[in-house]
Amino acid sequence: MKTDKFVVVGGKKLSGKIRVSGSKNAVLPIMAASILSNREVVIHDVPSISDVMEMTKMLEILGAKVKKEGNVYTIDSSNVQPQEFSESIVRKIRASSLFMGPMLGKFGSIKVAYPGGCNIGSRPIDLHLKGFEKLNAVVVERHGYIEANGANLQGGIIYLDFPSVGATQNLVMAACLIPGDTVIKNAAREPEIVDLQNFLNSMGARIRGSGTDTIKITGVKKLGTVEHYLIPDRIEAGTHMIAAAVTGGDIVVENVITDHLVPLTSKLKDAGCQIDEGDYQVRVQGTTHIRPLDIKTLPYPGFPTDLQPQMMVLLTFAQGTSVIVENIFENRFKHVDELRRLGAEIKVEGRIAIVKGVKKLTGAFVAATDLRAASALVLAGLVSEEATVIENIHYLDRGYEDFERKYNNLGAKIIRVNNSLSS
Ligand code: UD1
Repeated sequence: MKTDKFVVVGGKKLSGKIRVSGSKNAVLPIMAASILSNREVVIHDVPSISDVMEMTKMLEILGAKVKKEGNVYTIDSSNVQPQEFSESIVRKIRASSLFMGPMLGKFGSIKVAYPGGCNIGSRPIDLHLKGFEKLNAVVVERHGYIEANGANLQGGIIYLDFPSVGATQNLVMAACLIPGDTVIKNAAREPEIVDLQNFLNSMGARIRGSGTDTIKITGVKKLGTVEHYLIPDRIEAGTHMIAAAVTGGDIVVENVITDHLVPLTSKLKDAGCQIDEGDYQVRVQGTTHIRPLDIKTLPYPGFPTDLQPQMMVLLTFAQGTSVIVENIFENRFKHVDELRRLGAEIKVEGRIAIVKGVKKLTGAFVAATDLRAASALVLAGLVSEEATVIENIHYLDRGYEDFERKYNNLGAKIIRVNNSLSS
């Protein structure tokens, strides 16, 4: 597949204000959850990113009507019908797995092709399926498809072996319309799960406890309309904060819930950055003396895996050796080879990366391997001597709205080379 490239001209300190868009990881489950209502739902601050376009296509395949006015989406699910999700759909739209829970809850049965892996790991869904079984669904896996049938769905007690974000969201969405009480123990605590709860409760659901490790859902008969404002994207915000740190710049990141960023803020302070938190904003001033750090990615409120590649770029310039342990996705070090091409000194042993600080990076041709690797490579390009050409920008477009415009406003020089213009 031929996709856009970025040419990033390095050496510019970024400064100014940047506004964070609505959260990608909040809007995807919320769009899926909208099919639980028979009425129109309105979602504000929807980021203009390709993952949202894909979710829109999924909703339309199911029969929903999606109206888009700027960043406001109105979704009418009154004519949604059960559909089989073929392999081609599931492969193309990874977040399609988020429809399993709402479809089971609403229609009592699902048939979906088994999701494949992706570049950051195998992405299994066993925890989702075990959870469905606790809700009395009969789950059968055959010929590459998963079928779950729930003639007598009933609330139940679910213990998740690992606090999976997707499994927690699918089970919350499934349980909303299932009779009785459902309790999810060892649930994921990410802010995006709290946003999903707020969305569903405003529609009439009865969910308590999101943001803690025990969530209780009492089934209701139907869900109504809602007008919802998405939380800001904490990973986008974190990327900008790291951009300030990497370039030795001075950036005010606006539309931020600072509580969501505590693990990053704490690490940036340890690295020597100046951080000033204000009302829904944070100012980050970089330093020329970056201290090395030890980082372990963990479920929320631990350090997010989605900021690991960007943080690795910062530590590439530390005065000493840093250690990064990736505990969430087994394969999330693919950006390392690309950073090495720019001159980084990083060794990987299993889930551990050892990053030896270097004085400079030098621009080269690199390729993004996934969404967050893409933003990490842009950050690296911003501080490399000479230009860096980054291929596979479609990964970045999955999750960052208006990336180059926002960064060029801060003084960066990022040029998009359209695939029709590139050779
Ligand atoms: C979500 C986020 C993603 C983030 C990740 C971890 C969205 C759309 N994506 O992904 O950006 O990086 O959380 O914070 O919100 N696992 C199993 N069995 C399962 C489910 C998960 O073993 O049934 C494992 C996964 O392989 C992985 C770990 O659990 O190693 C975490 O996955 P999970 O929390 O489910 O991530 P996602 O919901 O896919």
